[in-house]
Amino acid sequence: MNMKILGIETSCDETAAAVVENGSRILSSMVASQVAVHHPYGGVVPELASRKHIEAIVAVIEEAVEEAGMKMDQVDAVAVTRGPGLVGALLVGFSFAKAFAYARAIPWTGVDHLKAHIYSVFLDDVTPDFPYAALLASGGHTSIYHVKNHLEMTCLGQTLDDAAGEAFDKVAKMLGLGYPGGNVISELAEKGTPGKIQFPRAYMDKTAFDFSFSGIKTAVNRFIQTHPEDYRELAPDIAAEFQAAVIEVLVYKLIHAAEKTGCRDIAIVGGVAANPRLRETLKKAAEDSGLRLFAPSIDLCGDNAAMVAGFGYHLLNSEGNEPGNLTMDVYSRSAGR
Ligand code: KG4
Ligand code: ZN
Repeated sequence: MNMKILGIETSCDETAAAVVENGSRILSSMVASQVAVHHPYGGVVPELASRKHIEAIVAVIEEAVEEAGMKMDQVDAVAVTRGPGLVGALLVGFSFAKAFAYARAIPWTGVDHLKAHIYSVFLDDVTPDFPYAALLASGGHTSIYHVKNHLEMTCLGQTLDDAAGEAFDKVAKMLGLGYPGGNVISELAEKGTPGKIQFPRAYMDKTAFDFSFSGIKTAVNRFIQTHPEDYRELAPDIAAEFQAAVIEVLVYKLIHAAEKTGCRDIAIVGGVAANPRLRETLKKAAEDSGLRLFAPSIDLCGDNAAMVAGFGYHLLNSEGNEPGNLTMDVYSRSAGR
């Protein structure tokens, strides 16, 4: 069935809306970032995030529908992020979706944010074959999945403490570089040399797929504390070594997950997937191991609503999916693995 789905994403600090046709053709994708609002606080302030979503959501949705060359009554269905995320923030998009779908008597569905990220590689022309191994690396999560189909996936391992993106953000904060830190650190790292300063690689069990990034964060902090005079000057080398240590472990574990599960295709998704060094290193490692790498375009790595609308298409067309109903609620955390 031909379906133009309106996707809505408000799980954290981006108010996003998109229209995607039949799960893959992006007709529009709008993202209103709240970075400037949270920047002075060095992180996302949940209450402010909810308020800003309320202020932005109508305009962002109107823009997305207009950009898609449509009128509101041409929207066939709605897909909205249900969780995990900040409850107050999620509720803004979720309540909007409920009201919109109810008023127009069209179907709607709640979408898991993590599964939507994993789906993001299917918004490209060339897509992986099932099953594939996917690394989701974002500000809130770092997990490896064995993806059997759009709806079925097994988590092979995840971070035991900080997420990879969170570690980038915290290191940026320690270096006084503001929030969010991923982009700033990756740019600064290009001016430095990895290995001049040495930070540990936290492989833990090399045969398992769990991660830990708190050790490297502590190592960076200790270095800063013990070099108060010159750490600013050494910031590019700190950034380069920190980034190299994180990338080395992410790449190793994803390649090994594919080998262990017998997958030929791998995918990297989530905000950290925008990191150019990570993409480059993983591309080379995939080639060396005879694997095919899939990564979303940069604008689809971070939070967006196109991945929500795209994944929502498969949910809405799957028999097992519980259709959206007015008593449905958001959730803040994933239900385990
Ligand atoms: O997927 P995302 O937009 O939001 C979550 O679902 O968390 O990911 C945001 C995270 C932030 O921690 C940000 O610092 C990180 O992605 N990030 C990066 C880069 N760009 C964004 N991390 C490393 N290198 C980057 N270039
Ligand atoms: Zn996300």
